[in-house]
Amino acid sequence: MFSDKQVVLSEYDFALVEDVNLLATPGLNPIVAAVRLLQFAGYYGSVDLQYGVLSPVGTLEKYRNRGLIRKLILEMIHPAADERGDVLLFILGIPHFYRQFGYEYAVPHKTGRILKDPTACFPLDLPSNNTGAQEAEPYMLREATIADIRYFVKLSTPKQLCANANLGTYYDYAFWEFVIEAFSPIRTQNFHDVHHHACVVVDTETKKDVGISLTSHVCGRWTWEVFTLDQDQDDSDPRAVLTSRHVIPSVLRQLKSMDRTFYECYNIKLNGGVLPEEFDLEKRQRGQFPPLQFSTLLVGLTPTHPATRLLDSQGKLDPAQDGYRMYTRIGSLPKFVQTVAPTLEVRLQTSAMRGTSARLQINFYRKLEGMSGRGLEIVFQNGRLVRASDWVAKTAEQEFYELRESKKQIESQQGVNDKVDSNVQMTLKASFAPLTFTRLITGTLDVNELLKRDSENYVEGGEARLLLEILFLKTDHYVDLCWF
Ligand SMILES: CC(C)(COP(=O)(O)OP(=O)(O)OC[C@H]1O[C@@H](n2cnc3c(N)ncnc32)[C@H](O)[C@@H]1OP(=O)(O)O)[C@@H](O)C(=O)NCCC(=O)NCCS
Repeated sequence: MFSDKQVVLSEYDFALVEDVNLLATPGLNPIVAAVRLLQFAGYYGSVDLQYGVLSPVGTLEKYRNRGLIRKLILEMIHPAADERGDVLLFILGIPHFYRQFGYEYAVPHKTGRILKDPTACFPLDLPSNNTGAQEAEPYMLREATIADIRYFVKLSTPKQLCANANLGTYYDYAFWEFVIEAFSPIRTQNFHDVHHHACVVVDTETKKDVGISLTSHVCGRWTWEVFTLDQDQDDSDPRAVLTSRHVIPSVLRQLKSMDRTFYECYNIKLNGGVLPEEFDLEKRQRGQFPPLQFSTLLVGLTPTHPATRLLDSQGKLDPAQDGYRMYTRIGSLPKFVQTVAPTLEVRLQTSAMRGTSARLQINFYRKLEGMSGRGLEIVFQNGRLVRASDWVAKTAEQEFYELRESKKQIESQQGVNDKVDSNVQMTLKASFAPLTFTRLITGTLDVNELLKRDSENYVEGGEARLLLEILFLKTDHYVDLCWF
């Protein structure tokens, strides 16, 4: 965790509470509560963002319910995250607890689908040819090295991963460097590390690199996290037209044999070079682990990935499950909206409300802990987002008196039948209960779903609804926060 290889945190990203009485006693650890703040690179449409993740969070039992975590989160972690520009914060954690700090269940974590019986689907033995000899693998896997990192970066862009997502995390250079170097089989020593195995797919005949694969072992099972074929090959060569159908059996056969050995034996030296044979608590306690069957493989590729679609069409995958919705917090909605303005403007530009000039006012009724305001106002002029700010809705009395005043003015200046100045901006209004709007802005629920969910959620008129639907469309997500 504290090695210089870590890319999602530094030694300064911890907020701690120390008991001064323990501090005075030599040999005692004075830390009684702690929160760690990680940072991940991500995107919202075309805009690159930084996400913060709180993990882990904990207080020693004796010190609980004294407000220690409340203080750490509100007085240290949130200000630090805001200051360094984490516009979105995530937590995978205790049900209900974090709502009090402004988090709502919104963005889903990346998930996968179980490949049914991989042993039967992809037998280890290759079919035999006419002479009875076993056929050679058409594609071979080789262990990734530092020299391959750029190739991995090239083949793991959201587009290459078929991540049809408008909100996601990147597998960037730092990610691959960490996975390939820090998590290489040789370096991995500890049971609690998340084990990754990165391979390059090589065409056996041409010896050319034609793709990449990444598997991981988390919580007792393997996940096929990344699999991309390099389509950037010579089209005149028929072998260069790679399809998942050709390559998958070869890759899965080899992953099965390589990963099994790797995951069972990464600490084989503790076992005198011998594979542990059966589940054995004592061995586990000594740091040795039971053999793991390659009986479950989670296909963690995107739903639109050709491999997922192919395996699904062959009936080899369990039904898709919804991803676990993470606690999600947007510390300042104006800051977030301004940051992602280029994406919102593009959505507007390609819509029925292209070039619109409007004031969108959203009332959240009250400001809860973790929210920057009781409402949000976004102003568009000729299709450009010119301002986003916290905003407070007027009371019914204020509205009534203002209306009466403006009526009087119109009557005295222009006469009741005069047209209203055509330059006056259109004001569109909506209201959402506190801690519900994050789901709309992150593309987790659409306007219709939010309106059905709570009676306080309300949109005034068709144009307000249309604008909200255009700006905050429901999208796929590709957020992977569990690889470190
Ligand atoms: C959950 C945990 C972190 C809370 O720490 P803590 O220092 O006791 O939290 P606080 O005292 O700041 O609690 C703030 C409020 O949340 C309430 N609360 C505490 N634990 C709660 C829980 N599990 N669920 C809901 N509310 C809880 C407290 O009663 C307090 O409410 P109040 O302000 O109305 O009195 C602590 O119980 C813990 O370490 N649990 C085990 C480890 C764990 O599960 N970590 C989470 C990993 S994400």
